[in-house]
Amino acid sequence: MSDSLEIPKHIAIIMDGNGRWAQQRHMPRKLGHYRGAARVRSLIEYCTRVGVECVTLFAFSTENWQRPAEEVDALMALFIEYLDKELPAMLENRVRFKAIGALDRFSPEVRDRIRRAEQQSASNDGLFLNVAVNYGGRWDILHAVQSWQAAHPNAALSELSQDVLSEYLSTAGQPELDLLIRTGGESRISNFLIWQAAYAELYFTDILWPDFDEAALQAAFDWFSARDRRFGKVKASI
Ligand code: FPP
Repeated sequence: MSDSLEIPKHIAIIMDGNGRWAQQRHMPRKLGHYRGAARVRSLIEYCTRVGVECVTLFAFSTENWQRPAEEVDALMALFIEYLDKELPAMLENRVRFKAIGALDRFSPEVRDRIRRAEQQSASNDGLFLNVAVNYGGRWDILHAVQSWQAAHPNAALSELSQDVLSEYLSTAGQPELDLLIRTGGESRISNFLIWQAAYAELYFTDILWPDFDEAALQAAFDWFSARDRRFGKVKASI
């Protein structure tokens, strides 16, 4: 990898295509999710190696509850298994884990496991890993406004600014989102990080998530590095 490549500080991934990957192989959809989860560790390690500071993964959306109960149960079980299995490696790699989303929908036992993983990794100084579960971008914005109001009961809503609202989002204190990747051939954001994606580069690939390997991630970084990010301004040299 060339030193001159610009590495995104914060990447987010919509890990789409697990179901189709499994169906193409005449396997149950949940096996596709398992293969998808198995992809995550090496990609996180790769991100750490190249200097990415924050990775946000969309594991379960507020809309995913509408899937068949069997698939919802499998995704929940997978998330818990992922936490239990990956925590030692996360701690070893100094990863700071955070679950983002409306966690009150989960059982006290699940919430307790999430909190324990967050607490154990909180003093790490490595990559921020946000796993979005029961997450929706509109929920994030509404929740931020409500949290701000709860913290400032006597303030008028007109006092709330964009910068202050950002401090109440799930990604508060983390680098701005630079690159949003969606695998699986669709070109939508699907209610993921809609506030944070305002100036992110959007990268869509047909690769199904279980096939998205380090080379595929590097291709996304190469593409990102070639972008001319103007943030609404004109180029300084013009
Ligand atoms: C979309 O594929 C993927 C999901 C709804 C779940 C993503 C979850 C994982 C990759 C595993 C869990 C990961 C962690 C980090 C715990 P799809 O089912 O919509 O695929 P399809 O479009 O081919 O049907």
